[in-house]
Amino acid sequence: MKIDANTGLVLRNLLGEQTSSVPIWLMRQAGRYLPEYRKIRRSTGSFLDLCYSPKLAAEITLQPVRRFGFDAAILFSDILVIPDALGQRVSFEEGLGPILDPLTPQEPILPDAMDRLKNSSQNKLEAVYETIKRVAASKKNDCALIGFAGGPWTVATYMVEGRSSRDFQNIRRWATSHATSFEVLVDILTDATITHLDAQIDAGVEVLQLFESHAGVLDCFGFNQWVIKPTRRIVEQIKRKNPHIPIIGFPRGAGAQIPYYISETKVDAVSLDQSVPLNWASTEISKSFPVQGNLDPIYLLGGSESLHVHVNRVLSAFSDRPFVFNLGHGVNKETDPKSVERLVEIVRNYEQR
Ligand code: CP3
Repeated sequence: MKIDANTGLVLRNLLGEQTSSVPIWLMRQAGRYLPEYRKIRRSTGSFLDLCYSPKLAAEITLQPVRRFGFDAAILFSDILVIPDALGQRVSFEEGLGPILDPLTPQEPILPDAMDRLKNSSQNKLEAVYETIKRVAASKKNDCALIGFAGGPWTVATYMVEGRSSRDFQNIRRWATSHATSFEVLVDILTDATITHLDAQIDAGVEVLQLFESHAGVLDCFGFNQWVIKPTRRIVEQIKRKNPHIPIIGFPRGAGAQIPYYISETKVDAVSLDQSVPLNWASTEISKSFPVQGNLDPIYLLGGSESLHVHVNRVLSAFSDRPFVFNLGHGVNKETDPKSVERLVEIVRNYEQR
């Protein structure tokens, strides 16, 4: 991608340029904290139906951009469309989150999974690519359109545990006691992720983010095996066809392994969760390397004074490098949209770089 006068702030920073204004977007910027989202959500069937309704999904993608003027739109979809497209039953239940029929080491592979994914005539994911085309056609040029997928490890946690988990016992036992069959599953997910991300680029996304939300439950052997290796393969393959699309890695909870993650996976930027100390990140991550993050979303639930203090801490820690302001995790559903407005204003007024 060549930077020219029309290139927006998110792309510039992700491609290694430090800009005087700091760009901002938020993980989970579309969702239940917005009344306009809740209205559409009430009028449609299941959450997945909504993800597969291009017109509505495109509208939801653009809602927060319109309301707050964010510098990026993130595709409205979910990381669990991959198991759904591979043929595993996935549903979302109020108050419980995702529910899946769990895979086991005895029944580790979804029969004909990849064939199902590749057979585009019955491919559910076509609706996702149609959403992207719609958003790409109506968004402003300087607002970056971000596509995404879950990291194979994180997606596998839901496929094996069957729901959100606290201790990840089943998947960690499978990965350690039957590593060979677990590797087959992770390989299928890695291939599916590459196919899905390639198709998102073809449809019009300009940036990719890999959500490895449960990276933090692995020891360093497991992290290398189930996060680093698949991520490296995803980045390598995507870059082969589309070398200029920046890829943001979000290895949540990876802590001191972050510099290793950066150098081994070759992602273009790293998204930091709120547990990463600012002074540590500032010295341990090369100054030319683009960083995104990492305000604790909890400050959006408090008073405006503490919001101001903590937003400024983050801004000043990363004022000497390419940087995209974001949260350390997704926006809480209890967040008042007014707090988000305030946050954007604070970031917009910070122009001392
Ligand atoms: O960020 C965005 O605004 C884009 C859309 C997006 C969603 N999920 C929409 C969503 C993205 C990027 C995701 C990623 C995702 N999904 C992750 C990785 C990031 C993270 O939060 O760690 C994970 C682990 C999932 C799986 C998932 N989807 C869970 C655990 C849940 C239930 C928890 C919850 O917040 O409800 C979902 C549901 C979901 N995904 C909702 C939205 C807007 C809420 C669904 C509803 O309206 O009821």
